[in-house]
Amino acid sequence: MILSAGFSQCRLFILATVLVALAVLAFIGGTTLASVSNANSATTASRAGCATSEMGSAEGLISSLFATINSAKCELTRADQWPADFADQVLKNGLDEYDFIIVGAGTAGSVVASRLTENPRIKVLLLEAGADPPIESEIFTLSSRLHGSIYAWTDYAEPNPNCCQGMRRGRCYWPRGKMIGGSGSMSGNIFLLGNQQDFDRWQQLGCEEWSWDEMQFFYEKASMNESSAQPVGELVLNYFESLKEHNELAQLIFNASRELGLPYISDLAKGTRVGYTKAIPANIARGRRMSVAKTYLGQVANYRQNLNVIKNALVTKILFSADKSQAIGVEFLLSGRHRLSALVRSEVLIAAGAINSPQLLLLSGIGPREHLTELGIPPLADLPVGYNLQDHGMLPLLLSFEREIETSPGLSDPQSISDYFLHQTGPLAAGVSIMGFINTNASNSSSYPDLHLVSHTIIPPGEAYSLQFLQLRDEIVAGIMREASNRSLLQIYGSLLRPQSRGRVLLRSADPQAPPRIYNNYASERADQLTLLSYVRFVQRMCATTAFRHFGLKLLHVPIEECDLLAYDSDAYWLCYVKFLYIGAWHPVGTCRMGADANRHTVVDQRLRVGGVNGLRVVDASIMPAITSGNTNGPTTIIAEKAATMIEEDWNQELA
Ligand SMILES: Cc1cc2nc3c(=O)[nH]c(=O)nc-3n(C[C@H](O)[C@H](O)[C@H](O)COP(=O)(O)OP(=O)(O)OC[C@H]3O[C@@H](n4cnc5c(N)ncnc54)[C@H](O)[C@@H]3O)c2cc1C
Ligand SMILES: *[C@@H]1O[C@H](CO)[C@@H](O)[C@H](O)[C@H]1NC(C)=O
Ligand SMILES: *[C@@H]1O[C@H](CO)[C@@H](O)[C@H](O)[C@H]1NC(C)=O
Ligand SMILES: *[C@@H]1O[C@H](CO)[C@@H](O)[C@H](O)[C@H]1NC(C)=O
Ligand SMILES: *[C@@H]1O[C@H](CO)[C@@H](O)[C@H](O)[C@H]1NC(C)=O
Repeated sequence: MILSAGFSQCRLFILATVLVALAVLAFIGGTTLASVSNANSATTASRAGCATSEMGSAEGLISSLFATINSAKCELTRADQWPADFADQVLKNGLDEYDFIIVGAGTAGSVVASRLTENPRIKVLLLEAGADPPIESEIFTLSSRLHGSIYAWTDYAEPNPNCCQGMRRGRCYWPRGKMIGGSGSMSGNIFLLGNQQDFDRWQQLGCEEWSWDEMQFFYEKASMNESSAQPVGELVLNYFESLKEHNELAQLIFNASRELGLPYISDLAKGTRVGYTKAIPANIARGRRMSVAKTYLGQVANYRQNLNVIKNALVTKILFSADKSQAIGVEFLLSGRHRLSALVRSEVLIAAGAINSPQLLLLSGIGPREHLTELGIPPLADLPVGYNLQDHGMLPLLLSFEREIETSPGLSDPQSISDYFLHQTGPLAAGVSIMGFINTNASNSSSYPDLHLVSHTIIPPGEAYSLQFLQLRDEIVAGIMREASNRSLLQIYGSLLRPQSRGRVLLRSADPQAPPRIYNNYASERADQLTLLSYVRFVQRMCATTAFRHFGLKLLHVPIEECDLLAYDSDAYWLCYVKFLYIGAWHPVGTCRMGADANRHTVVDQRLRVGGVNGLRVVDASIMPAITSGNTNGPTTIIAEKAATMIEEDWNQELA
């Protein structure tokens, strides 16, 4: 069955739930019918699975199950776990003046807003382009359903011949969260800090104040559960749970990796390193997403008079003083209708993420002079905004099983649904979460891996969804299904931990609602292509282990016309495969690069202040000078923690 975009998947889940409900109703209906018709009952009753008569108590029990599941669902989606919307007040009474305005309530914005407003004298306005997350965000195993939805910015990158050719439109699809919690409300929830050497590198790049020790210090601060009369934001992490049905798969992976000499990693909190593990810290508790938007922002917002949050507020421009030296506020579009502006006493903090933050700076006249002039935007500060775009990307590989392996029931299995809603357990609450880190360019004892192997999930026979949500072209998905000929598949994604390729974000036009132009340049550097090739060869070595051979695991030949002109399994073949299937754009960073000082090469200084103007900082994933060796939400959380402390230090006098 070929299904279309992610949004229909989200509908599909609702549909599935409704169908289960209808099935139960039909069951009840069937009972009544059978008892009334009283005809030919043996077959009718067994087909409907019903008794021939009933007294009503059974129906009562079923209704009670419905009512319980329904109220459990409401409990999951409680509106008061999110900040109240200040929009109506503003439309009625206008805007106050604030000490800080924060643009974007994603991962970084949520943390900074929460920390700054611990001080009751600091008045903060938080503006978010999206609304509250839907229930599919809460049930983290359904987060892929959000990719093509109204809860995401759904841009495509500009065409790049080196990657994503196998995706629809032949371009990289670029979803990111547009809701309270931002991308952290649709992410895979994995929380890693990166590797110590990433921060040694940051220091070499001029960011001396951003050492690994600093990151650890703020990580501890974030994880500290302070007892206080008023709630305080905190980081909630737990390991991903797995089900007993996942044990065999986990053993298989660990057995194979052990045969290849890779150790088991027992604690990732101290940083990523070479080895395999399923002890993966995640923003999760009892099967529910614990984004920082929930645990930092939602938990405090409705107690704090000094924090106002406006949803559906798209910031379109940063406002400057007459002499253009000082940021004084922002202009925003509320619910697509009302043009408003808000003024600030201290600073505007941009936390719109690695694509939208550079976009907003460019729209406001901060960025490369030439580019701005071309679009008729008067340039205020000539800085390399939008350059240095980096991302891990992903290269999926599929392996087919000759011998079946144990798997858990599907997410839409009625048992899975009731387990989740009644107990927050079962397949909807757990993930197969195994990851590996290898070093393709050194001895495997190295403590600084360069390749991340994630996913390790099973695609059951005939199930195409997990390929479709990656936005692979229909004929490629159909080809995979054909080649798999009813066997289960193991999917593994390989990500570059330290890609060499660099992309760039530019404006398409001076219209703030036009999507930006994203030149990702993924895999444009030969070194990146070769690392991906080494990853394929590594997975082939896994296939040669006793553990993998026992299950007859073999790389599936994915039919791609252009690559099939080359000798299968040659280096040239796999480099072609990279062009088509190296995809993914979920970890963009670097576009408002931090350095010792803001200058020709860097946009912000070490205190995250934008060069050339006053009263403006960028606080989010875009400030990373180089991407970290692991998923980016963790480092972004810590960046925001450190930023909040620096901002308090810098304004200590004025706000005392
Ligand atoms: C599908 C997916 C899966 C991921 N999985 C993981 C994972 O498992 N682990 C991990 O560590 N990382 C993961 N990431 C990456 C991680 O989510 C990001 O690195 C992190 O959220 C970046 O935080 P941020 O604050 O920079 O941006 P975001 O969290 O994206 O927040 C930016 C916010 O600003 C808002 N905004 C943007 N422009 C404007 C504007 N003009 N006006 C008002 N508001 C605006 C956006 O709507 C958004 O809410 C994933 C990302 C995606 C998309
Ligand atoms: C893994 O290895 C152990 C010990 O050698 C063995 O008992 C087990 O069957 C293996 N499991 C898988 C799935 O390979
Ligand atoms: C790791 O190193 C060991 C010995 O040094 C070697 O036998 C093994 O093949 C290596 N594995 C990988 C994945 O490089
Ligand atoms: C897959 O299995 C189904 C049902 O078992 C069967 O009808 C179908 O022909 C099989 N397809 C292939 C390609 O083997
Ligand atoms: C491999 O490592 C060496 C030394 O660390 C480095 O100079 C070289 O660029 C690396 N090669 C690739 C393909 O990354």
